[in-house]
Amino acid sequence: MTDLRAWLPRTVDAVDAWMAQYGDFTQDVSAQVSDAALEAAFAALTARLTDNYPFGHPRYVGQMLKPPHPAAVLGYVTAMLINPNNHALDGGPATGRMEKDVVARLAAMFGFPQHLGHLTSSGTIANLEALWVAREIHPDRGIAYSVDAHYTHSRMCQVLRMEGTSVAVDEAGRMDLGDLERVLATGRVGTVVATLGTTGLGAVDPLPQIVEIARAHNARVHVDAAYGGFFTLIADDTPDGVAQAPFEAIAHADSVVVDPHKHGLQPYGCGAVLFADPEVGRHYVHDSPYTYFSSDELHLGEISLECSRAGAAAAALWLTLEVLPLTDDGLGQVLRACRRGALEWADLLRRSDALALYQRPELDLVGFLPRAAAMSGIDEGSERIFREAAALDPADQIHLATYVVTAPALAARGFEVVADRERARILRSTVMKPESAAIIGEIHGRIEHLTPLS
Ligand SMILES: Cc1ncc(COP(=O)(O)O)c(C=O)c1O
Repeated sequence: MTDLRAWLPRTVDAVDAWMAQYGDFTQDVSAQVSDAALEAAFAALTARLTDNYPFGHPRYVGQMLKPPHPAAVLGYVTAMLINPNNHALDGGPATGRMEKDVVARLAAMFGFPQHLGHLTSSGTIANLEALWVAREIHPDRGIAYSVDAHYTHSRMCQVLRMEGTSVAVDEAGRMDLGDLERVLATGRVGTVVATLGTTGLGAVDPLPQIVEIARAHNARVHVDAAYGGFFTLIADDTPDGVAQAPFEAIAHADSVVVDPHKHGLQPYGCGAVLFADPEVGRHYVHDSPYTYFSSDELHLGEISLECSRAGAAAAALWLTLEVLPLTDDGLGQVLRACRRGALEWADLLRRSDALALYQRPELDLVGFLPRAAAMSGIDEGSERIFREAAALDPADQIHLATYVVTAPALAARGFEVVADRERARILRSTVMKPESAAIIGEIHGRIEHLTPLS
């Protein structure tokens, strides 16, 4: 177990030891703040931070978030004490090189023989860059994405003033290939966005077929794997792995986005975009008379829409991947444990009289609902379980998330319910911590207990 209490002082020691060669000095601003003032402000901060959900606890199985790995904290804090800026090697030579290193590792994970890419502050910005490059390559054609794709794609189409077209999904929330054919036949689409791991359900679009259909229509393919990308490590069709074919096909896409701040164990502020063709770098060419002076090597700002970016984010990911490499035995083991938890929960839900599984999980997201005869009963029951589970004694609390579904989507999954409302909330859980996976039986039992039989 990595004990941060023992490791954190070493971040200060390491930076002090390096800085000592430049001679003693005191930071003016820090000298002006008394310990007493900091003590009071810090007490206020820690008190305010208690108004939070316990993301790190195994019984938090709600949204896709969790605290970073201790290695990421150490990497981040150590570099942050220096505060390099990865915009240019002038501002962050060491962390700039670390960023190139981790991006190369991500590219290898996806099977890109060559690549151009960088870290971003989020999956949203990473996708924005991919769609911007798509527009530069096909200025007169738009973007197609499934109706279950992240809302960022339609929003970024607005930002970029591109036409965005929704493609229908099948009964498992995956892009419908027949509808994709129809949309591409219009000739108006230059790039298809495939989502490997939708935000709502963790559905995995059929990428091999999407690549084939898109190529037949001379369209590019961008993969939004912000959430699901790291499942590539366990995409081997084994019982506790995930489907191989869609993740293997990323190697044939034009670009891919993955968020290390989701399944990569990083603090927020770490997305990534990778392009298969390094030539797309030409779209980024710009003049910057005040940077790029310290080296002829590539400066990351030269291939990024963002300017300043935390070098600490690259250091955090670099240190994490040193101890948990991008292999099945490394980070893959974390994903496998989560996947096992999701599968176990799905089995328990299939056998439950009070709750029902919404659909078979493809990754580690589990959707479920109280068994009820009408949309209103599902919605109200889900809301009550969500609220009551979070309001238990803190030592018993379970934190879930909700997801909005339609009557046709329920019908497509075999639920015959009275459509007295158009939409209903169901429950949605991300099993993204192995600790949660280890107590799935207990979590399920407690939720079942809160669910009256209807
Ligand atoms: C598939 C997908 N794309 C994009 C995003 C947006 O990423 P971010 O929240 O890092 O901006 C998310 C976030 O959940 C996502 O799941």
